[in-house]
Amino acid sequence: MQNELDKIAKDTNIFLQKFIKKQKKSELIVPMQYGLFSGGKKIRSKILVDIGFIFKINYKSLIIIGAAVECIHAYSLIHDDLPCMDNDTIRRGKPSTHIKFGESTAVLAGNSLLTMAFEILSHKDLKISEMTKINLINKISESSGHLGIAGGQYLDLSYEHKKVSKKKVIQMEIKKTGKLFSFCCAAPLILKKKSKKEIKRFENIGADIGLLFQLADDLIDHKGSMLVAGKKTGKDKKKGKATLISLLGYKNTVKYANNLILKINNKLIKYGLRTKKLSQSLNYILNRNK
Ligand code: IPE
Ligand code: IPE
Ligand code: MG
Ligand code: MG
Ligand code: MG
Repeated sequence: MQNELDKIAKDTNIFLQKFIKKQKKSELIVPMQYGLFSGGKKIRSKILVDIGFIFKINYKSLIIIGAAVECIHAYSLIHDDLPCMDNDTIRRGKPSTHIKFGESTAVLAGNSLLTMAFEILSHKDLKISEMTKINLINKISESSGHLGIAGGQYLDLSYEHKKVSKKKVIQMEIKKTGKLFSFCCAAPLILKKKSKKEIKRFENIGADIGLLFQLADDLIDHKGSMLVAGKKTGKDKKKGKATLISLLGYKNTVKYANNLILKINNKLIKYGLRTKKLSQSLNYILNRNK
């Protein structure tokens, strides 16, 4: 699993380096590269490749689509660390982008990474039909805006120091983190021109995987160490973040996450043995320590 993840991360980074190199130079490239290449697991690309494997999509296309996802993810982290959001100074064991380059530069590098995702998906190097590209861009836009990352981040901040129901916390985590995973799970089916119903089924699986991912991130914040995680831990409690841990406690959140894995695996049964890689990724997501 780790070897495959490392290979996907390497291939994604190679694609992105080349893509950026082909563009004209600008002052924002260095902070953008800092946000993209200063580490990062590239787990969203791994999920995309795992689902793509089930549907026999070629690896190169998956890496390109994953690269677009990673641009959006990198943007979301740069903005997440800003003083007006989580105000975090360390990311992936290094100074956060705004600490290194200043706040306004971080905002603009983040914006530019968001739009670069659309440049990648509409680029001629991605050898799929124009209609499919439009469908992908439509879906990734929805996952990133007010119904996805941005909307979820809004809720995350507005719930600080408030008593929020379990249902609302889960909805918030699905928006801020789950929706981008929904895109990763839906993209291979969009490429295969599957029915709306089947695409929706995989979007829901993606939302569950993203929720699992965020729960594991919250568990790392609760119990993990900064040296391993590469970011300060114990900060959710300090900031009064509404998490499942704050509602149910650590042990029950672990139980909830394990049940979530069972639920996701059950939904995958009908797709047979080719889902094995995805199941391994789910275990990795919950048991990782960074
Ligand atoms: C951290 O994401 C932010 C969340 C959505 C929980 P990752 O843990 O995927 O961050 P990197 O890219 O590997 O650093
Ligand atoms: C971030 O969640 C989710 C995003 C969409 C960026 P967190 O705020 O928990 O992520 P970390 O812990 O700072 O990486
Ligand atoms: Mg946050
Ligand atoms: Mg944060
Ligand atoms: Mg966190």
